[in-house]
Formats: sequence, C-alpha cells, structure tokens
Amino acid sequence: MGQHWFLIWGIICGLCVSAELERFQQPSKGDGSLSFLVIGDWGRRGAFNQSQVAFQMGKIGEKLDIDFVVSTGDNFYDNGLSGPHDPAFEESFTNIYTADSLQKRWGDAEAQLSSLLRKIDSRWLCLRSFIVDAEVAEIIFVDTTPFVNSYFLDPEDHTYDWRGVNPRKHYITSLLKGVECALRESSAKWKIVIGHHAIKSIGHHGDTPELATHLLPILKANGVDFYMNGHDHCLEHISDTESPIQFLTSGAGSKAWRGDVERRNREGLKFFYDGQGFMSVELTQSDAEIVFYDVYGKILHTWNAGKQLVDHSSM
Ligand SMILES: *[C@@H]1O[C@H](CO)[C@@H](O)[C@H](O)[C@H]1NC(C)=O
Repeated sequence: MGQHWFLIWGIICGLCVSAELERFQQPSKGDGSLSFLVIGDWGRRGAFNQSQVAFQMGKIGEKLDIDFVVSTGDNFYDNGLSGPHDPAFEESFTNIYTADSLQKRWGDAEAQLSSLLRKIDSRWLCLRSFIVDAEVAEIIFVDTTPFVNSYFLDPEDHTYDWRGVNPRKHYITSLLKGVECALRESSAKWKIVIGHHAIKSIGHHGDTPELATHLLPILKANGVDFYMNGHDHCLEHISDTESPIQFLTSGAGSKAWRGDVERRNREGLKFFYDGQGFMSVELTQSDAEIVFYDVYGKILHTWNAGKQLVDHSSM
C-alpha cells in the first residue's frame, strides 16, 4: 500500500516537474494587499483614444498604488512587431504609458520577443506562458492562441509564429498539465488565469469553444476565481453559472466601438461596454474589488468578491 502511494505520488510529481511553467516573484505590498491594472488590444501609436486611456491608467494607477500592469495581448497593430528594433514598440508602448505609476512590470499573455524588448524597455515581461507568484494571488498567463482551431485550419491572410508550438497537440497537453499542476499546488488566496482569448464573451469574437472544452474544466476543478482576457475590443463581465469563476474582458485599450455585439441574453452577464477603457483589480486576503473605467476615468462597473476565512476549529 505504502509503496503503491509512493509510486502514484512519484508519477504526479514527475508530471508536474516536467510540465512546470517559468515562475516569477512579485511581492505584495507591506500590508499583504496587491493591486494592478488590466488592459488589452492597445498598440496604435496613441490613436483611437489609446493615449486618453493611458492617461487615465496613470491616474488610477497612482491612486491604487499599483504593483504591476497586466496586458491581455494584441499589443502592436496591425501586424505585431517586425523585430526588436521595430519603432512600433516605443511608439505604442514606451512613449504612451509614460505616467510614473505605470513604470512597473508589464506581464503579457502573448509572446512578443521578450528578452530583446526588455533591453529597450525593462517593464516588458512577455513569454508564451508563465506564472507570477504574487503572494496573495497566483497569476497564470496562458498562451491561448494555439488552442484556436481556425488559426491552423483557416489562417486567411494572417501569419502566425508557431515556433516552439509544434507539435501542437503535445504543446497544448503539456501547457494544460503545467496550468493544472500550478493551480493544484498553489496556496494563494486568489487564483487568476489570464489569456488573450475569451472563454465567454458576447463581443465580436464571442466564446472560444476550444478553451471552454480544454481549459475551463481545469479552472473549475482548481478553484480559479477570475479568468481575464482581451481579444474582443470591449469591457465585459460575465459570471459563470456553474462555478464561482468570473469572466472579465479588458480588451479596450484603443480601437473599440465595433457596434456588433451579440445582444442575445447571456446568463450571468453583469456588464458590457463597447467603448475604450480598462480595469483595475485590488486584492487582500479576504476581499477582491474589480472596477472598470472608461476613457474619462469614470467608473462604469464594480464587482466585489469575498473569501470565507477558514474556520480551523471545525476541521
Ligand atoms: C474616444 O472616446 C470618446 C468617448 O467615449 C468617443 O466618443 C469617441 O468616439 C472615441 N474615439 C474613437 C476614435 O474611438
């Protein structure tokens, strides 16, 4: 019996070690709290209200004394960066998010030449998938692009960089294992997963069924609190109907107002805004507050969640 368990334990640990995602430390504030902003789909050299959103982020960032910024991807329009010396990086990032409060680490959910760009702007942390261990929260960045079937089957005029992704099936299996292991082993109060594509959205692109099939069950089984994404150029909050997970879209960093929302009734829909803006997250051991802002810094929607303090006397 003992030997049997030892063997199973060995297999589980072995799998976790081999699938381990790179991990970065982000200390909480002195009082144990953490705050950050979430922005997506932004890089247009300041156009389409990008600069106005950046200005408001600077103000709210200062007010909340943020620890870092999360980018939900699609950072450089229209075609990403041609290389590390593409001026778009500075024109759409370094020269736009100039406020003191935004001179923090930027973690991003899509790979964008991290190590070379970090030499140009040290804020940039952008790998395919990785973990930020922020004490009160475990934040897992998941590279969701390889999940989307149509990018492989029908890429149209897009070119995708699949270096390191093929063979795709193996890549996805190992990534999911890494996410599952990290979540299972985490003792952080808040578990947050960040991807570029929405699991649930009523915006232009809508749901990503591949993520609902493969990623969502792992999030549900491991007590994830928030899934955050961009891709749809809007701000949005949908509560899962079968678990405590909140789906939060912040993809409104520049071009928005698409006007083609699926206005069908979506169960759990709490908030949808078609225009530009961003989101803030404040976490303590017992409470979370999510706030969405528009281009003027006006609060559009607030969501509070609480954690039951564990009652050790009954355990
Ligand atoms: C900029 O934001 C304002 C206020 O939401 C909006 O009326 C305007 O259309 C936006 N401009 C663009 C180019 O999206």
